[in-house]
Amino acid sequence: MSNRTPLIAGNWKNNIDHLHAIALVQKLAWTLRDADHDFDDVEVAVFPPFTDLRSVQSLVAADRLPITYGAQDLSVHDSGAYTGEISGAFIAKLDARYALVGHSERRQYHHETDEVVAQKTIAARRNGLVPVICVGETADDLEAQGPAAVPVAQLTAVLETIAADLDGVEPDAAPLVVAYEPVWAIGSGQAASPEQAQQVIARLRAAVADSLTPTLGEAQAQAWAASVRVLYGGSVAVDNVAGFLAQPDIDGALVGGASLDATKFAQIAQFRKHVRTN
Ligand code: PGA
Repeated sequence: MSNRTPLIAGNWKNNIDHLHAIALVQKLAWTLRDADHDFDDVEVAVFPPFTDLRSVQSLVAADRLPITYGAQDLSVHDSGAYTGEISGAFIAKLDARYALVGHSERRQYHHETDEVVAQKTIAARRNGLVPVICVGETADDLEAQGPAAVPVAQLTAVLETIAADLDGVEPDAAPLVVAYEPVWAIGSGQAASPEQAQQVIARLRAAVADSLTPTLGEAQAQAWAASVRVLYGGSVAVDNVAGFLAQPDIDGALVGGASLDATKFAQIAQFRKHVRTN
């Protein structure tokens, strides 16, 4: 058993305006409270659009909800003449804990390279946000190179760039999260099998150690590899989440579509109950 706290994260993408965000987070909080959810045992986070973050912050603070939240992206720049960009400093001011970086939809539709993803990871950390570094292979990559090659290369590129920045940081504070999301599984209803996901995620964990060793030394790099939470994402649903979380290296789920429904998302966060009743 690892001591990594599972994280169930809901990526709302470009859905839910700020008024609906309040209703959704309220319903999620009630549903989880009624189910006696232990937030220290399984962390629950939401990733609303930027325009919702202030509303979510106000609700979470006013009602002292144990739900955490983050942004879906951030700028590499903390301020300046970058029209349309959102600074990590502004996101952190809203008490957000996380920022997604390198989601496949950013890589695909906004041509974000590994270098940009690395710079966003650095920008998140510079502003006290925990980056959730998203990696994953397309169907073509899968066919040409197998499942692990592309995600491992993507993660290695980011970690080699940020390694110096992690020197002296205590890995136990879990200051970064990785999400493995096969692109072919996102929004398709065709999740990877838990065993497939476990295989790739074990490789990603090994890549954390390999890419940090030259800068941090082997012992510290291994400590990072053991403490970083690695999530699976791609068509996670109520009926498949428990299988992923039963794997030794999978520490949670990044959930898109099913996170827009408070009842379903709460059931996903309650995956331990599915394990017991199955
Ligand atoms: P999905 O999306 O759960 O709708 O497949 C996951 C994601 O893109 O983060």
